[in-house]
Amino acid sequence: MKFPQDFIFGAAASAYQIEGAWNMDGKGESIWDRFAHTSGKIRHGDTGDTACDFYHRYKDDIALMKELGLHAYRFSISWPRVLPEGRGAINPKGLDFYKRLVDELLEAGINPCVNLYHWDLPQALQDQGGWLNRDCAAWFAEFTSIIADHLGDRVFDWMTLNEPLMAAALGYALGIHAPGYRKPWSMFRVIHHLMLGHGLAVNRIRSENPDAKVGIALDLRPIHPLSNSEKDKLAAEKADIFMRRTFLDPIFQGRYPETFTTRNRLFRPRIKDGDMEIIAAPLDFVGVNTYTVDRVRYSPWAIGMGFETQMDPAAEEEYTRNGVQYTTMGWEVYPQVLYEILMYLKHEYGNPAVFVTENGAAFSDKVVESRVHDEKRTHYLQTHLAGVKKALEEGSNCKGYFAWTLVDNFEWAEGYSKRFGLVYVDHKTQQRTIKDSGLWYKKLIASQK
Ligand code: FCB
Repeated sequence: MKFPQDFIFGAAASAYQIEGAWNMDGKGESIWDRFAHTSGKIRHGDTGDTACDFYHRYKDDIALMKELGLHAYRFSISWPRVLPEGRGAINPKGLDFYKRLVDELLEAGINPCVNLYHWDLPQALQDQGGWLNRDCAAWFAEFTSIIADHLGDRVFDWMTLNEPLMAAALGYALGIHAPGYRKPWSMFRVIHHLMLGHGLAVNRIRSENPDAKVGIALDLRPIHPLSNSEKDKLAAEKADIFMRRTFLDPIFQGRYPETFTTRNRLFRPRIKDGDMEIIAAPLDFVGVNTYTVDRVRYSPWAIGMGFETQMDPAAEEEYTRNGVQYTTMGWEVYPQVLYEILMYLKHEYGNPAVFVTENGAAFSDKVVESRVHDEKRTHYLQTHLAGVKKALEEGSNCKGYFAWTLVDNFEWAEGYSKRFGLVYVDHKTQQRTIKDSGLWYKKLIASQK
């Protein structure tokens, strides 16, 4: 499979899912530390206290990236590692970790792509309301300035937020992720504050480093009605507005879809003059995180929404139903996801530059004689990348692909029970084994030369 000469192949990860060292060297508590330490929140009572111990093993993991031939690595910064209280005094050791990480990546010839917020808000800021508080946008901008100031001379690729929809929906409405709130009425307020934080951060990065390329990583899935009924089709339109246009319209058109602001008062965010101009700050690219398709049906029970997504629960083992493969997350494998999303962005939003910032699959891997024969993951990567290639042939402006993820890690509410890595991790010994899918990816990258 041949891609354009300058196409980037990388892998992505996030701070809380890999770093561990949750209270070391002056790091402050994050909402994920608090959430994982609360009993009953994470499968098997797992926590990210040690995770993949990336804080200590980053050099070894960068050696693995080099062995795979990765061009780039997308990682996030733990806000409370750098600012233990969320604001104010910098923790020099925390900042130093990210400087060393960037240096080591550059040394290995791997481009560091920094994602500023991947869900681990400082607990000190959550105590003041977190993203429910409009001030959180400004706090995020301050944090961004500090990071851009210290890394901006060596990092040229930036993302502000990871999946604001999931941060708001899972964290504030459904209570499945930190901070664990069940306040569905607050969701649009949270989204607006996140988007405001995004816009402010874009400006901060650019003022520290005018050569920076700046984007945001959104979770964008194809949305299909579950049946051909008019009700389900209408539900799919609503889902499109809520899950995709709520984020893309403000970025590209400087306004939210109408239904966002005409909701009943309880749900409606307060949008101040000038907010939308800030949020619409021009971007250099859009990051797309996508794993599966949303099958949507009409639901009178989803208050304020009118739709719901058919979702299987996570499972111990992957399974097939009606000839369709599902992963251990219970996510349908639908290889056209990337093709469809790239075409959607082309047709609906003027074909912006796009990076696939996350894509991958969780299967129940086993080490057998020092090898991991994960054919299903290899097949997943192969068919999904074929979708990217097809989109490129049809004029998509996709510039690169980041596999989720390098090493098996802490999968949020699912703990360590889900393995997405190109590299297997024995969570007891921290031993790493490159899976067959990792070897396949390595070959693919090498064959581009
Ligand atoms: C995405 C998250 C990422 C990872 C994958 C599987 O929604 O951004 O951290 O957990 O799902």
